[in-house]
Amino acid sequence: MPRPAIDLFRKTFGTTPRAAASAPGRVNLIGEHTDYNGGPVLPIAIAQRATAAIGPGAPGDSGVLEAVSTRDNSVVRVKWQEELPEGWAAYLAGVLRELWSLDVVPPDGSVRIAVASDVPIGAGLSSSAALAVAAATALAPSLAPRQIAGVAFRAEHDHVGVRCGVMDQTISALGKRGHALLFECASLEATQIGFGARLLLVDTGKRHDLSTGGLNQRRAECEEAVKRLKIELPELAWLASWPVEWLPRLKRALREPLRSRAVHVVSETARTRFAAQLLRQGKLKQFGKLLYESHESCRRLYECSSPELDTVVAAAKRAGALGARLTGAGWGGAAIVLVNKTDKKTAPAIQRAFERAYGRPAPISEVQASAGAHAERLYRQ
Ligand code: GLA
Repeated sequence: MPRPAIDLFRKTFGTTPRAAASAPGRVNLIGEHTDYNGGPVLPIAIAQRATAAIGPGAPGDSGVLEAVSTRDNSVVRVKWQEELPEGWAAYLAGVLRELWSLDVVPPDGSVRIAVASDVPIGAGLSSSAALAVAAATALAPSLAPRQIAGVAFRAEHDHVGVRCGVMDQTISALGKRGHALLFECASLEATQIGFGARLLLVDTGKRHDLSTGGLNQRRAECEEAVKRLKIELPELAWLASWPVEWLPRLKRALREPLRSRAVHVVSETARTRFAAQLLRQGKLKQFGKLLYESHESCRRLYECSSPELDTVVAAAKRAGALGARLTGAGWGGAAIVLVNKTDKKTAPAIQRAFERAYGRPAPISEVQASAGAHAERLYRQ
């Protein structure tokens, strides 16, 4: 059971927290940059989690958030309605504002929050969604997981200003052990699909900052593409809803770079739905092929890969892995590699190729589909 957040709360504020909850990071198996375009995603929750321990603010405080993290141990103190703190605490202020709009937290409510997380930051594993979902779960235990996901999404999107989609918060709130989640981001239909395959996670060590990175730019390009495609198909609401059989027409209607971005989104949408079907049927080999195709589309068309990620994927392919691709926004971060249960050579082969190219190792671990957000006990059993 994770204790650091609870211990830090006690140490910092001198009292026992009122509640604690934890929420996982994620890796996305396939369906990249489809969520904010109304398409499907297929993520799993990972074992690494953020934990938030919460309690009432200091007597006499009104509308104050005091937050502390095991990363730096210094207390951030802000009027959460009026100011957005720098860095990680902004997500907590965003969560409080959203809970206020749902009448879960009073406007003058004061809160203390201590957080601890083992989800690596900037590795494309969704550390910020894990933090926001953990805090929302601890602060609002009566809300359903889908509502928690919505609160955490709006905290990040509307308050912190990262133009992300709903994938990360949704899987963090709804994740189920041993399952991947097929989530249709336009209809919000969610289907759990058993996932017990062997998956490696390769951290390229190249960090990215989403709020200043390419995500906002790509999203603007996709919006522009929809605007132009509406001339062809006025009822088009989401880029991902463009029929895949009409790709030639889409290519004629758009110029670069919008053409490539849109072709990625429309073909990735079809690929993801097909991949989910294959996974259900246990056809891992074909499923793996789609992972390679997805990476290629991200690299060539969406231009969100990085040389480090391409090195990992190419080495995995040469070693005979079933599939490999970048996961998350890209531009650095981590890659996933699907291997047979008995495979012993892929990981060392990737390691050798990476060290040869970059003169440093790339940490490789195995990932298991883990549980979504839940409350944590305050006392040791
Ligand atoms: C980031 C965003 C997600 C999603 C991915 C790309 O992780 O937070 O919502 O858009 O990029 O698939």
